[in-house]
Amino acid sequence: MHEDLKEVLLSEDDIQEICRDLGAKLTADYQGKPLVCIGILKGSVMFMADLIKRIDTHLAIDFMDVSSYHGGTESTGEVKILKDLSSSIEGKDVVILEDILETGTTLKSITELLESRRVNSLEIVTLLDKPNRRKANIEAKYVGKKIPDEFVVGYGLDYGEHYRNLPYIGTLKPEVYSK
Ligand code: IMP
Ligand code: MG
Repeated sequence: MHEDLKEVLLSEDDIQEICRDLGAKLTADYQGKPLVCIGILKGSVMFMADLIKRIDTHLAIDFMDVSSYHGGTESTGEVKILKDLSSSIEGKDVVILEDILETGTTLKSITELLESRRVNSLEIVTLLDKPNRRKANIEAKYVGKKIPDEFVVGYGLDYGEHYRNLPYIGTLKPEVYSK
């Protein structure tokens, strides 16, 4: 699997440093508030597991599964809710945890939906941000790292469901796409 990678963008150490940094910010910003962390399946699972260990305040976790991609590398602009939250978020301070913010289509739909549920506050935490690809009018308050417009895999991020289990994030060799 590792031989399919062209370049490592974020090493395991880089990712842990980002999680410590974001965790400290969230700890400071959410003291004494009923925080709910919502992981967007499946890509955010590893990031969520590492990040919440670095948030030193009371919190609950929940998950939502939406689909906007259909196995390829280009977004179709469609978002479908596959799994909704298991608890009410009314009156809660909510952060959405996402692996990557690209066009923003996915997070735009999710934030509109969650805001309609009368949350006290709603912010976005994304491990990666590709600002050059943005189409929807949406930004994340907490960003791990801005990256150039390149397709990346690993640490939860997939290409056709593969490579999510890589412990680091990198780009694929061009020949992998032509297989
Ligand atoms: P957006 O709706 O275009 O912002 O896309 C967000 C979703 O697209 C993410 O949650 C990922 O699942 C997927 N995605 C966007 N860019 C990449 C990438 O470089 N690698 C893997 N998945 C990506
Ligand atoms: Mg995703």
